[in-house]
Amino acid sequence: MSVPILNASGCLDALAAPAVARSLDGFVTKTVTPLPRDGNPPVRIAETDVGMLNSIGLQNPGIEAFVTDHLPQLAQLAVPIWVSVGGFTAADYAETCAALDPRPEVAALELNVSCPNVEEAPESIAELVAAARAETSKPLYAKLSPAVPDIAELARAAETSGADGLSLVNTIRGLALDERTLAPRLARGAGGLSGPALKPLALAAIFACRLATDLPIVGMGGVQTGNDALELLAVGACAVSLGTVLFADPEAPARVRRELGDAAAAHGFASAADAVGAAHTARGEPALVRDQPKVSV
Ligand SMILES: Cc1cc2nc3c(=O)[nH]c(=O)nc-3n(C[C@H](O)[C@H](O)[C@H](O)COP(=O)(O)O)c2cc1C
Repeated sequence: MSVPILNASGCLDALAAPAVARSLDGFVTKTVTPLPRDGNPPVRIAETDVGMLNSIGLQNPGIEAFVTDHLPQLAQLAVPIWVSVGGFTAADYAETCAALDPRPEVAALELNVSCPNVEEAPESIAELVAAARAETSKPLYAKLSPAVPDIAELARAAETSGADGLSLVNTIRGLALDERTLAPRLARGAGGLSGPALKPLALAAIFACRLATDLPIVGMGGVQTGNDALELLAVGACAVSLGTVLFADPEAPARVRRELGDAAAAHGFASAADAVGAAHTARGEPALVRDQPKVSV
């Protein structure tokens, strides 16, 4: 049983780079909202010493154009398609999920309930997940932010409201200054920080959620190497997504898959899947680790 490797939402344009998309076990779209959005004004991307800042702001064609124009083209890739769903109210999530539910091209839905670049929905995560659940029987993953006091509580709320899995983690808010002028480098000021700095936060979030729920977890946050992927599995993810690394290395899916196999073998695991939960058992708490859940793509 191999570990699925996906892209993180917003980090790969599958139609512009179909070969990269085909090298994944599933392609996750950029977040789609009910209405088209231009996103935030430029500058929207800034590199920092520890990762990347973005303030794209959910730029997307809107659900109608997505379903009519984009989805049929994505289906040609013959890779399972996960659609990331966003919005500003529970009704937005419900509407987008209802539009996608009858589409056979869609393998799963990921609810982006954690974008740092737009105003938060006034409803709780439980309400957003429940509203989506009422409109679809597709597998539903809730994507959470690590920038919360108790992520395990949100994970439990998502599970109780009908989520089938968790995607952990989204970016956290950060800011970079222009060295010369000391003005913020992003037009919006702050943006979402991704890349290497996020890995310890992702590890902590996945570790906590694995103990708190029975949901399968797609892990992401700062994965650059097979060793990084192995660590996310060890704390409890059973699939791994690649985000920021894809901007620098389009070969990353094949490379990380290869390195992950080597890293698992070096730790004495027969396969990478056997490393799932290893950080928990290494602590001597096997009773806390439930049967390893699976992400099916
Ligand atoms: C340029 C950019 C755009 C992103 N757009 C989205 C998005 O539309 N929806 C979403 O849920 N996450 C989005 N993300 C967050 C990623 O999916 C991922 O959660 C995050 O980057 C952490 O993974 P990484 O450190 O491997 O990049 C975006 C990230 C980047 C860098």
